[in-house]
This record gives sequence, structure tokens and C-alpha cells, in this order.
Amino acid sequence: MTDLSQFIAGLPKAELHLHIEGSLEPELMFELAQRNNVAIPYASVEEVRAAYDFSNLQDFLDIYYAGADVLRTRADFHDLAMAYFARAAADGVVHAEIMFDPQTHTDRGIPFAEVIEGLLSAMAAAEAEYGLTSQLILSFLRHLSEEAAFATLAMAEPWLDRITAVGLDSSEVGHPPAKFARVFAAAREKGLKITAHAGEEGPPAYVHEALDLLGVDRIDHGNRALEDEALVSRLAAEEMTLTVCPLSNLKLCVVNDLADHPLDRMLARGLKATVNSDDPAYFGGYVADNYRAVAQARGLSRADLVTLARNSFTGSFLPAEAVARHVERLEAYAAG
Ligand code: HPA
Ligand code: ZN
Repeated sequence: MTDLSQFIAGLPKAELHLHIEGSLEPELMFELAQRNNVAIPYASVEEVRAAYDFSNLQDFLDIYYAGADVLRTRADFHDLAMAYFARAAADGVVHAEIMFDPQTHTDRGIPFAEVIEGLLSAMAAAEAEYGLTSQLILSFLRHLSEEAAFATLAMAEPWLDRITAVGLDSSEVGHPPAKFARVFAAAREKGLKITAHAGEEGPPAYVHEALDLLGVDRIDHGNRALEDEALVSRLAAEEMTLTVCPLSNLKLCVVNDLADHPLDRMLARGLKATVNSDDPAYFGGYVADNYRAVAQARGLSRADLVTLARNSFTGSFLPAEAVARHVERLEAYAAG
């Protein structure tokens, strides 16, 4: 490992944008297919990996939802999340805020309880085993109706004390934040934090809507905000955290080349950017790989990397004392 690579692996960091279903590695997909007697349209792990060649978000989503079909029981969700936590811990992640898509499972007849109980048991095990804390973000699928999102929120009611936030993901263009204004207001009323994917493929107007109509605490991605100067100034002034995902942006053709990735321009313009893996099993790397790839492509300094890691803590949903503790540990690491 190079010095920089080692520095990145040891850098204490939070991961704020991770879809747990997107951490399903082909090996585990095969294992679960066998365990649950589910047919999958691939003959080998190599064939699965070869299928991960996407030209846009929808291309990926079609394969991602199909892959999730092997997840059936609470043990499957537990194993899925434990595999992620092991990888994250090895990457220096000390806190993770993980998204899950209940509708991907409840619409296949999997009870909400199986999904969330499997995830919660893995979260407890990861804290015991790795000292890695985590929180849950329930994400609504935006290609479905607001009514369906309300039904999902109702299903989550018995677990609301164990859910930190709600999010909005899936096919962005044609499904603006405005479509979900009421359900996000209801979630906020229940004390949940708010995040939403905006400006990944959708226009800057969707980022404005996420701010004005959903009242987001964070923006997931936000790349296309850079097309709107006034929006950039507003995001900077509000210290709005952006959960940026470099390898995802490359694989989904949000950028054509990592050499063109806007991460350092975001920082230079005062935006509070963070680095995250999004769907690491599909996009070719976990969070440290994302730091490494973008650091190399854009020539980031150690100071930039420390800023990104600091933003991951200050942009998290942790209480202020925990944020302060993590930042202190980070500063000690940075000081060598
Ligand atoms: N964008 C939108 N929806 C998603 C993503 C993403 O990057 N990953 C999983 N669901
Ligand atoms: Zn995402």
C-alpha cells in the first residue's frame, strides 16, 4: 500500500450514503440464491460482474432490484449487513448511516419486520464486534406513489425509535421531490431527519425542491447543483452536507471520467462534500476505494481528505457530543 492509501484506510470516517441492498456481493447473492432456492439469471460470479456495465441510473436500478430478490429472511438481511460492516470497519468507517428500501422487499411479500429486524441485529453485532455505530435511513422509492410511501411509513411505526431518517431514492428524472412533500412533512412531524437523492441525474430544480419542499437535512449526490450559481451559494451558506459518491458517478455516467469529477471544486466553492460508496458491490469499491480513486484522479491533498472525513462526522445525524469525539480523534490522526 502506498502512504496515501494507508493514510486513507486509517482515516476515521463516517459513511453517510450507502444502500445496504447495494452492498450485496455476487458471492453472497449466489449463496442466498442457494439457501432460499431462488433462481438467478447468472451462471457464475464472473457473469454477474460482467453484467455490471451501466450507461445510466435506470440500467443499474433494473439489475439492483433483480439482485435483491435473493433476500428473503431476517438471517439474509443480517448476513448482508454484517458483510458490509466488516468491509466498512476495514476501511476506517467508525459510523455508518445506512439506507434500506423497504418497498423493494414488502412488494415481494417479505414482511417489513424480517427486513428491519435482520438489519438491527447486524447493527448491534457490528457495534459489539468492531465498535462501529450505525443508524438506519428508511428510503422511499420515488418511482412509486406518495400513497405507497405513506403506507411504508405506517408499516415502520413500531420501529420509529430505531429509525433515524427517511430518504428518497430510485429513478430520479420524472419523479421530483415535490411528489413526496406531504409524506416527508409527516416524517418530520414524527421526529425523523430528512435526506433525499437530488441532482444525480435530475436538474438543479430538484435540489431546490428538496430544500424548499422536503426540508432536507442532507442532499444525496447533488452533483448537478453546480450548474446553478445561486444554488451553490445557498448550499454553501446553509452548510448543507452533500453525500458524494465518486465511483457511483463514474459507473452511472454522471461523470465520463474521474479526472473530471467535481469533488474538489465543490470543496473550493465552500460546499460541504463527503465521500461515500452508494452501492459498493455494483460500483467497484467500498468507501476507502472511493477516497483513493478520487484522490488520485483529482490530486487531493491529505488536508482535503481530512476535510472530507471531518464533513462526514459534522454532516452525520449523530448527537453533538459524539460528533465532537469523532472529530477530535480525526484531528489527532491527522496530526500524526
Ligand atoms: N440513485 C438512486 N437510487 C438508488 C441509488 C442511486 O445512486 N442507489 C440505490 N438506489
Ligand atoms: Zn444512492
